[in-house]
Amino acid sequence: MNDSIPERTAGSTAQSVRESAWEYAPAPERTPVEIADRYGLFIDGEFRSPRSRRWFETVNPATGEALTKVASGNDKDIEDAVASARQALPAWSRIGGQERAKYLFRIARRIQERARELSVLETMDGGKPIKESRDIDIPLAARHFFYHAGWADKLKWAFAGATPKPVGVCGQIIPWNFPLLMAAWKIAPALACGNTCVLKPAETTPLTALRLAEIFEEVGLPPGVVNIVTGAGRTGQHLAAHDGIDKLAFTGSTEVGRRIAEAAAVGDRRLTLELGGKSPHIIFADAALDQAIEGIVNGIWFNQGHVCCAGSRLFVEESIHEEVVRRLEHRMASLRVGDPLDKNTDIGAINNPDQLEKISSYVEKGQAEGAQLHKVNNQNLPAKGLWYRPCFLTGVQPSHVIARDEIFGPVLAVMTFRTPEEALKRANNSPYGLAAGVWTDKGARIFEMAKRLEAGVIWCNTYNQFDAASPFGGIKESGFGREGGRHGLRAYVRL
Ligand code: NAI
Ligand code: MG
Repeated sequence: MNDSIPERTAGSTAQSVRESAWEYAPAPERTPVEIADRYGLFIDGEFRSPRSRRWFETVNPATGEALTKVASGNDKDIEDAVASARQALPAWSRIGGQERAKYLFRIARRIQERARELSVLETMDGGKPIKESRDIDIPLAARHFFYHAGWADKLKWAFAGATPKPVGVCGQIIPWNFPLLMAAWKIAPALACGNTCVLKPAETTPLTALRLAEIFEEVGLPPGVVNIVTGAGRTGQHLAAHDGIDKLAFTGSTEVGRRIAEAAAVGDRRLTLELGGKSPHIIFADAALDQAIEGIVNGIWFNQGHVCCAGSRLFVEESIHEEVVRRLEHRMASLRVGDPLDKNTDIGAINNPDQLEKISSYVEKGQAEGAQLHKVNNQNLPAKGLWYRPCFLTGVQPSHVIARDEIFGPVLAVMTFRTPEEALKRANNSPYGLAAGVWTDKGARIFEMAKRLEAGVIWCNTYNQFDAASPFGGIKESGFGREGGRHGLRAYVRL
């Protein structure tokens, strides 16, 4: 089974030959992207200066350089945006699904046409590898608009026997890990169902949402249907607290999610929350190991681990523990960490300094609690920027903080189990319930595990598969409500 992977003997000729053979030449993505000196708020169909008169910088985490200045919205700006969405609502809901579908379709096409530019900008503003923004974020964002264009004129078939009506004005607050994609997840279903929106992007990654605003202008989306108010947590707080909002949707940390739930309860607003996770992978001895290792690598090291459904706990059947550790190390050594604009990069920059600090402090805590760190990637890192090499820890106990808390970085906690029962018990021993992965050759075992794992999304012999047609969301402290698919529409209609 291990023929394909030679043992790693330090300093051996075989190893150095292999390493030089695998040295790639730099392959930077060079598409130039224009970035203005500053970006205002997008309210009532136009970019305007904030009433707050405040601006903040958004930085490229791979270089430390400020990209541009972005408006910081205050309570008055939120007031304007909500009023504009309210005013646009009757006409937008009255034009009917067929007309709305045309706008959604045009938005999807423009995202495709501007895909390269959007990918580069996403990577510059957030730090994720260009191959991810190019192959995942941007195509999926377009896909969400296409998919919901399809539903817009078929809503009465989505909810048999009922007459779906829009909920009203939607307040939507999104995080920095999938900036344009999260905007699409929130805006596309809302518009399809005849609602209007006020979106608050994350403060470290506002630029692609503002490009999306340009696309709304290009396709002639009626003013006020979508308003985009940039700013930090305070701006989000004003939006969540505004009593003109009929529905709130939030993706982000569990802590902020709790505060938003309180704000929503006051006005009896509709609410969906997509919060964090500590998702388990369970790998049985009979699993196809090559695929399983790739799935695990993808599950935790993809997007620097800045993924709410990252497979951050790995439960390995005891008999294959050593083999799995050896293969993970082997794979970790060859991952390319560095310039996110390089097309060969696997792991880009950590999004922001707080996050980097959080990741390193968790890894230190894990070691202090007695876990062993495996961190064998030693490729050169760029001189500037925020970097964290992929790693995993073994000897992790369920009580360790690294086995319980969401780290949101490229850090995997590896544990073992002996029986399927034990695997289930340990995997479910978490306040979170977003996703889970099961790796085994046996169909019956897959069904049994999938039935009993406490998670909103369960992937079997694969991981991190997304599609607009497939509902996504968590249970327990990972939130409630679904996004995508017919289930996702439910949050945006009154029946
Ligand atoms: P956060 O939850 O503070 O930020 C998410 C969004 O909420 C941003 O747009 C932010 O401006 C806004 N926000 C912040 N405070 C708010 C408030 N009081 N009211 C309304 N909106 C508010 O996440 P942060 O600080 O960027 O990351 C902290 C941790 O959260 C991460 O380390 C990670 O564990 C988790 N996280 C989870 C995400 C997920 O997809 N589930 C995404 C981002 C972070
Ligand atoms: Mg930025």
